[in-house]
Amino acid sequence: MTATSAVLITGASTGIGATYADRFARRGHDLVLVARNGSRLESVATRLRAETGVTIDILRADLTDPEELAAVEVRLQEDRRIGVLVNNAGGNVSGRFIEQETGDVAKLIALNATAVARLSSAIAPRLVAAGEGAIVNISSVVGIAPEFGMAVYGATKAFVAFLSQALSFELGPKGVYVQAVLPAATRTEIWDHAGVDVNTLGAVMEVGDLVDAALIGFDRREPVTIPPLYDAEQWDAYQAQRQAMLPGFAQALPAERYRSAG
Ligand SMILES: NC(=O)c1ccc[n+]([C@@H]2O[C@H](COP(=O)([O-])OP(=O)(O)OC[C@H]3O[C@@H](n4cnc5c(N)ncnc54)[C@H](OP(=O)(O)O)[C@@H]3O)[C@@H](O)[C@H]2O)c1
Repeated sequence: MTATSAVLITGASTGIGATYADRFARRGHDLVLVARNGSRLESVATRLRAETGVTIDILRADLTDPEELAAVEVRLQEDRRIGVLVNNAGGNVSGRFIEQETGDVAKLIALNATAVARLSSAIAPRLVAAGEGAIVNISSVVGIAPEFGMAVYGATKAFVAFLSQALSFELGPKGVYVQAVLPAATRTEIWDHAGVDVNTLGAVMEVGDLVDAALIGFDRREPVTIPPLYDAEQWDAYQAQRQAMLPGFAQALPAERYRSAG
């Protein structure tokens, strides 16, 4: 990505996405801001245009709507100024799995997982052809914590982290940087939407601190950035354990313990 690349940010009307917009604008990048709420997008854009002088386009889209999502894909395919995609838009559904409506579960997957994969797919070939650019995907620590009781949300975030790591292996050697960011509880509206009072949670990170930390990871070209993880060696050890299993998967016969019942 060049210093002048434009950055397309989904979910830029508030929270983590609006903070990414602020930080990239202050770095001098033009922006394309995507979300459903046009007036909130416009107020973010108006403030940042005035404060930074960068060019900001608004693209209003509900990313769970196939036609509106397709319009964002076309923008990513055709607008050669865009060199960075930040897949940030995401949500949650309140309640435990058995209390959640099946339609709401499907919508959550459409927003948190399908849109991330489709938008990445839309821009990746162009970035690879250019030999530069970046895709930033906002996952969550919930994606490595099935114990937390957020089954579908966590599953979508595991999808995002996996997709990011796999794309990092595939696109990294071709000059395209892919980052997964795994926040823990961060003070944004997402908690209100999920019916949770953020003040009842233990420690909560301020959104500016989260995004500034994520951008330090971005500048270091980390494949995975976990701002709330104090002991980075724990993640390295987790990856090393996982990778140690991989060569052992090539087996003609099941493991000894599965060769007889009982
Ligand atoms: N806050 C946390 O504790 C936390 C922790 C870990 C991970 N995350 C992740 O961080 C990302 C940002 O979350 P946030 O905390 O900043 O949440 P937020 O304050 O609720 O903001 C969510 C953003 O996504 C947009 N959005 C929601 N539904 C959309 C749709 N159907 N189509 C297009 N845009 C949509 C919203 O804008 P409109 O309503 O205008 O569409 C808004 O801009 C999410 O992926 C979330 O899962 C958050």
